This record gives sequence, C-alpha cells and structure tokens, in this order.
Amino acid sequence: MLRLLLPLAALAALLRAANVPERSFGIDYDSNCFVKDGKPFRYISGSIHYSRVPLYYWKDRLLKMKMAGLDAIQTYVPWNYHEPQMGTYDFFGGKDLEYFLQLANDTGLLVILRAGPYICAEWDMGGLPAWLLEKKSIVLRSSDSDYLEAVERWMGVLLPKMRPYLYQNGGPIIMVQVENEYGSYFACDYNYLRFLLKLFRQHLGDEVVLFTTDGASQFHLKCGALQGLYATVDFAPGGNVTAAFLAQRSSEPKGPLVNSEFYTGWLDHWGHRHSVVPAETIAKTLNEILARGANVNLYMFIGGTNFAYWNGANMPYMPQPTSYDYDAPLSEAGDLTEKYFALRKVIGMYKQLPEGLIPPTTPKFAYGKIRLQKAGTVLEALDGLSPGAVRSTYPLTFVELKQYFGYVLYRTTLPKSCVEPTPLSSPFNGVHDRAYVSVDGIPQGVLERDKSLMINITGQAGANLDILVENMGRVNFGRYNNDFKGLVSNLTLAEDVLVGWEIYPLDIDGAVNYGIIYLLHHSKRSAVKELSYEVPTFYTGTLSIPGGIPDLPQDTYVNFPGWTKGQIWINGFNLGRYWPARGPQLTLYVPRNVLVASEPNNITVLELERSPCSTQACEIEFVDKPNINATLQNETDKPPLFVRDLWMKHL
Ligand SMILES: *[C@@H]1O[C@H](CO)[C@@H](O)[C@H](O)[C@H]1NC(C)=O
Ligand SMILES: *[C@@H]1O[C@H](CO)[C@@H](O)[C@H](O)[C@H]1NC(C)=O
Ligand SMILES: *[C@@H]1O[C@H](CO)[C@@H](O)[C@H](O)[C@H]1NC(C)=O
Ligand SMILES: *[C@@H]1O[C@H](CO)[C@@H](O)[C@H](O)[C@H]1NC(C)=O
Ligand SMILES: *[C@@H]1O[C@H](CO)[C@@H](O)[C@H](O)[C@H]1NC(C)=O
Ligand SMILES: *[C@@H]1O[C@H](CO)[C@@H](O)[C@H](O)[C@H]1NC(C)=O
Ligand SMILES: *[C@@H]1O[C@H](CO)[C@@H](O)[C@H](O)[C@H]1NC(C)=O
Repeated sequence: MLRLLLPLAALAALLRAANVPERSFGIDYDSNCFVKDGKPFRYISGSIHYSRVPLYYWKDRLLKMKMAGLDAIQTYVPWNYHEPQMGTYDFFGGKDLEYFLQLANDTGLLVILRAGPYICAEWDMGGLPAWLLEKKSIVLRSSDSDYLEAVERWMGVLLPKMRPYLYQNGGPIIMVQVENEYGSYFACDYNYLRFLLKLFRQHLGDEVVLFTTDGASQFHLKCGALQGLYATVDFAPGGNVTAAFLAQRSSEPKGPLVNSEFYTGWLDHWGHRHSVVPAETIAKTLNEILARGANVNLYMFIGGTNFAYWNGANMPYMPQPTSYDYDAPLSEAGDLTEKYFALRKVIGMYKQLPEGLIPPTTPKFAYGKIRLQKAGTVLEALDGLSPGAVRSTYPLTFVELKQYFGYVLYRTTLPKSCVEPTPLSSPFNGVHDRAYVSVDGIPQGVLERDKSLMINITGQAGANLDILVENMGRVNFGRYNNDFKGLVSNLTLAEDVLVGWEIYPLDIDGAVNYGIIYLLHHSKRSAVKELSYEVPTFYTGTLSIPGGIPDLPQDTYVNFPGWTKGQIWINGFNLGRYWPARGPQLTLYVPRNVLVASEPNNITVLELERSPCSTQACEIEFVDKPNINATLQNETDKPPLFVRDLWMKHL
C-alpha cells in the first residue's frame, strides 16, 4: 500500500505545482514547512502593536522592521480598543487597522494577525471589553452564552473587514491566530475553541491558516491546542530549543516548527526593576532556531507605549507601567539599538537583507523646564468633571456606573466624629486599585489593593469623606481577568460599614479636551491652601516650541522632578500615567505628533498625591533621553515568584 501511495502523492504534488494559484499560502505537512505560492516558505517575523505606536510613526517603524530582514509582522487586535461600548465600533485614526495592514503590505511585509478575542498582551483585561462584566457572573473565555454572543457580534464586525486582506485575496495576512495561550487558562473548554474555529472559518473561508499559540510544554498544549487549528509554541532565549520544539511536535507531529513569541526582552511592573535581556543571549538562540529551519516571531520587535489607561496588570496585583519598551530591538520611541543590529546580523546569515537605507533614529529635543500652575483640585472641579452623582447605599463598581477607565469619586459623610485617629479600612481588599482619601479637603492617606488596606483618618461628624479611586489597569493574564474596578466591597470606619454614598463618574479626558480645566484656572482662583498640594489636583502650563531651529517639533520625554503619581495630557492627548515615586519608569515618551509649533502646547497634569509646587519648583522638564530604569527606593533584586514562574514557563 505504502509503495503505491507515495508515487501517487508525489504525482498529486506535481499536478498541484503545475496548477498553483497566483497567491496561496498553506502548510506542507510532508515537507514540514509552510508553502507560499507553491514554494517552501519560512518566515522571520516581529511583533508590533498598532495600538501602542502613534499612527504618525507606523510607516517609520514598519520600514525599520522590513530593513531588519523581517518577512512579516505580527500584531494583536485589542477588542476593547475597537468596541469601547457594547455595539459602538471605532476604527478611526490611530485605530484604523485596515490602513495599518495596507501600510504593512505597501512596505512589503506579510502579516500574522492575532485576532483574539482574548490577547493578553499586557493590555487592559487582555483586550476583553470591561462591559462584558455587566453580567457579574460571566465566565470569560468559555462557552458562557453571553460571552459567546458578544464574541460572535464582534467577530462579525472584525473578520469581514479582514477577509479582503488575506493573502489569497491579494492582501498581506498569511495566518490568523485564534485565542491566545488558552492552555494557560483554567477553563480548558474545547467547545469554546470549537466555537471560535467555526466562527473564524465562517467569516474567513477554508483556505487561511488558523493557528494557536501556547507555552512550549505538553501541559500548556493540552488545553490550548485543537484539531483544525495549527498548534505553535512560544519560548524565551537561553533555553533548550530542541526540547521546546519537541513539545510542539507532541501536538503537531508534522508541519512547520513555529515559535510565535520568541522574547526579545520582557515586561515591567511598577515597583520592580526594569527588565533587560542581553542581545547576545537572544542572538544565540535566534541563530539556533533559524539553523533548524524553524519559523519565528520576535516578541516584541518594538513594544511602544501604553498611552492613556491601556496598560494591564498581573496577579498578585502588579500593574504595568506606561512604557512598553520591552527592551526590544527598536526602543519605545523606535530608536535603532545594538540589539537591532545584532539580530539583523543573525538574520543576514540566513537570507539576503533588503538593500537601501535604514530609517535613522528620530532626533529628540530637550525643550527644558516648563512652569506649571495649580488650576484647582478635583473637588473644586467636580461640577465640570461629572454629570452628577449616583446615590447608592453601598458602593457601586465602575462597570455598574458604565464608566470603564480612569477615576471615580466616592463620597459619603462621617457618621460620627473621629477626633482620635480612626481606622478607615477595606477588610475585603476591595479598593481596586488605589484610593486617595480626604476629609473636607484635608488629605488623609492612600489605600491600595494588596498593599494598604487601612489608614487612620480624623474629622468631624457630617464632614465629607472623599475617596478618589483610580483604576490602574485590569488583570490581563490568568483566571483573575474579571477584574472589577472601584470600591468593589464595603469600607468600614472603625466597626461601622459606611453607607449613603454619592458616586461621581468622572470624565476627566472630556474635561481636559473641552478646556474645562483651563477655564477653572482662569475663573475660580481658590485661595491657595498649603494642603491643597497634597490632594488630587490639576496643574496647567504651556510649552512653546522655540523658533529658528529647523525640523521642530521633535520627539521628547517628560520628566517629573519632585512629583509623585498622576496622569498627563498634552493638547488633550492622554500620554499616560507617571509614578516616579515608585519607578522604574521616570520619563514618559512624547511623540512629536502630539506637539504643534504654531501655538503654545497645552499641558494638563493631574497629580494624585503630592506635587512639588508648595515647596520646590512647580516644574516638569522635557528632556532628550528616556529614563525607564531608575534604581528603586525599595529595590527587590528578584521579581515576585509569579513573574519568575511566567518566565520559567517559557524557558
Ligand atoms: C499587496 O502587495 C502586493 C505586492 O507585494 C500587491 O500585489 C497587492 O496588490 C497588494 N495588496 C493590496 C491590498 O494593496
Ligand atoms: C535539550 O533537550 C533535548 C530533548 O529533550 C535533550 O536530549 C538534550 O540533552 C537537551 N540539551 C541540553 C543541553 O540540556
Ligand atoms: C492608627 O492609629 C492607632 C492609634 O493611634 C495606631 O496605633 C496605629 O498604628 C495607626 N495605624 C496606622 C496604619 O497609621
Ligand atoms: C455591603 O454590605 C451590605 C450589608 O452587609 C451587603 O448587603 C452588600 O452586598 C455589601 N456590598 C458590597 C459591595 O460588598
Ligand atoms: C490650548 O488651549 C487654548 C484654550 O482652550 C486653545 O485656544 C488652543 O487652541 C489650545 N492649543 C492647542 C495647541 O490645542
Ligand atoms: C539605565 O540605562 C542607561 C542606558 O542604558 C544606563 O546607562 C544606566 O546605567 C541604567 N541605569 C540603571 C540604574 O540601571
Ligand atoms: C518603601 O517601603 C517602606 C516600608 O515598606 C514604605 O514605608 C515606603 O513607603 C516605601 N517607599 C516607596 C517609595 O514605595
């Protein structure tokens, strides 16, 4: 039988070869490789997340990736970025995924699309929209019917947009990933994966290669892989490449070897050392992977920035900082690094590198110190920030208020006089994630998830107890994805449960954009009280781009000397969170596209704890070098156990 079959298979292959469609992409199981336009094909790819790079720079970054010798890019689609409210879709401006795909194609790069619905990615809630939590008991990433219904609606919008961009339809997309590292999730629901497989096939057709990605072990592949989805693995440099690919072979005895996430660096958390992975380690393992003819995606090739509120968090609760530099070959700002050239050299040993100029690192400019002025506290600005209070006996969560990001103010009155310091506590660790507490405008301290569950307060009976709660980013990995924000359990004062809340949803981004903070500054100059520098307060100022210097504005970084923790906007663009008091990130990246030269640039800072303005210079400073690796005040040499486990899993 076998003897007869072989020549027949060869004949069939020949016939197919003679009749290959002009554009085709698939898997050749006999030769253990991909096959593109009828020829064996191996890809070297790099990750870039369009949601973390300003549209203005998409072309620059893609060209730098092309010039490194990459065949393809890999990108995630964050569902919550495109469907901010249930049924409201946003693909405009920096969210124009189709334009991004077009640019990739124009640059001569193929695309590996990781369509979700879940993506992890150190992105808020792993890309899942927070409004899914309106059903409190929802089991995310499972066959929960409400979850599946939402996924089906979303994919019914996303996938038809992607179909024309599939390779066989004339576009750049060669492969589409379904879910993400599902084998690391507790649910192990094959019906869910089958549902996704069917849905993706229905919208994208039978030809496109659909795949999964999991940690390189049989343990992870057990619940992550599914018949009909090509199983690939991810693993870090420095490990045993043979063993890692053997794990893939346990699921896919034949077909191309693929590492879908080969880590070029690693993620950071506030309060932990900046991660650095030496270029030599990566170059060495990359060489081993390529020598074996395997396919690889470098995660990240450029990390970029968690602008606004988009960072995620790990458990035990550790939010990621604004920079997603990742110690990648292209820095957060797209700068060419030593690592870029080291990896390009390795790639050059396996294929011809493209000819032409590598776009240079963009110049950075130190605009210097900018004086800020106090515009008013959050409480003073309350009328302009909130449509009004929602009254409730017990606290409501962000989702119950239909506000998904940023800050919410919870107010009640002291039921009795607290002359002596009286404990205000969150016995069930229900402050998600950080709360700035004041009584009649007098600062009392900070409550923080997992870290500070009790503070002492003082005040008169009937005084306003104001608790500004910050959502610091939803958990993006593991079973605690359903991360409710706000006061998610009751607070107690001494023994009494606090009741009678007025809860103010806050649209701070709207207020910044409509100039409300600016007006506040010019209309209502409140008496400057010393203590008002230690409650959540807005500061404003302007940055004028100097004349007479060619090619300004240029990229810059903003530094916060003497400031504690907060959020900054330039011309209404939310650059993200700063937290120099915790580190390791000190400066925030300011891409030039948010700056204008024609008029002063409006700067708004929301300092949540303590500004330097009552005692030192009330200044922020624009510098030409980033600092995201400060020595920490409370330095822990080792990352917490969890992070090491996550890392080990990939070795
Ligand atoms: C993508 O690029 C190829 C050339 O590499 C071209 O043939 C194709 O028409 C392009 N597709 C789109 C959608 O622009
Ligand atoms: C790598 O793994 C393979 C397969 O498990 C094993 O045979 C080999 O000894 C390992 N190499 C090293 C250096 O540990
Ligand atoms: C709160 O006040 C009590 C009594 O003064 C004191 O013993 C305790 O240490 C204080 N706790 C904190 C967290 O400040
Ligand atoms: C607060 O306590 C009340 C009374 O015990 C309880 O009914 C309610 O569910 C609690 N609320 C939260 C958010 O935990
Ligand atoms: C800055 O704010 C002022 C006052 O709201 C406005 O007139 C001006 O256009 C803003 N500048 C920029 C660059 O957005
Ligand atoms: C941070 O990085 C810079 C640039 O690579 C380096 O010069 C500096 O020594 C680093 N600082 C720390 C504290 O690691
Ligand atoms: C450092 O740790 C100490 C003791 O745990 C704490 O009191 C202090 O606030 C921490 N400092 C910072 C900057 O986190």
